[in-house]
Amino acid sequence: MKLILLGAPGAGKGTQAEVICNKFSIPAISTGNIIREALKNGTEMGLKAKSYMDEGKLVPDDVVIGIIQERLAKDDCKNGFILDGFPRTIPQAEALDAMGVEIDRVVSIEVPDEKIVERMSGRRVCEKCGASYHMLYKKPAKEDVCDACGGALIRRKDDAPETVQDRLKVYHEQTEPLKDYYAKSGKLRTVEGQEEVADTTRLMLAALEA
Ligand code: AP5
Repeated sequence: MKLILLGAPGAGKGTQAEVICNKFSIPAISTGNIIREALKNGTEMGLKAKSYMDEGKLVPDDVVIGIIQERLAKDDCKNGFILDGFPRTIPQAEALDAMGVEIDRVVSIEVPDEKIVERMSGRRVCEKCGASYHMLYKKPAKEDVCDACGGALIRRKDDAPETVQDRLKVYHEQTEPLKDYYAKSGKLRTVEGQEEVADTTRLMLAALEA
């Protein structure tokens, strides 16, 4: 299964990718996580991406295309993968096609902008292992402490409300046109993502079979 997850920032792509990757035993590849990891390790690519990310802008296409090309060449992608956060522009989708990657399904998770702003203000991530929580919907056992590794939970810089608005604008202008791009090849399915996580998962699994 080669799957692309589309959706606005905070629509729940990462949350659903985690469930699906466990169910199908395929890796979930998040360009956002790869960039954040590079930034944590102080690599040249990470530092180059920092200013774009912090301001809610997209990192240049050539940088993320390079990341994906390298990642998809790894052995664990042979039986499939989930792309969470790539492609995000038409040139990125064209680059994926040019790599000869045959995608089976593209699922777009639909959540209204107002709901996104509310969700993002409650998200906390572990600064050590990157695990994601929510102050209302996915609370850690101990306040501000990661259940998995004991690391401190922080708010991502780009989850500040004004940056979320910028990210939504970028999404509508540059990423949403990908829905048409993939609808043309019949691969697009859309699912409602505003109810509980388990509801979205149920719709998502049905969309993978439809
Ligand atoms: P990235 O890390 O990919 O961020 P994003 O797409 O903006 O998505 P998020 O991770 O913020 O949200 P999500 O949809 O995964 O939602 P989640 O499941 O966490 O990218 C960050 C930046 O990196 C970009 O802005 C850009 O600068 C750069 N970048 C990355 N890829 C790029 C590319 N291809 N090209 C150029 N630049 C790129 O859910 C959000 C919260 O809601 C969580 O707290 C979760 O617990 C909660 N939640 C989820 N589902 C539900 C539900 N159903 N009900 C209640 N709460 C829920």
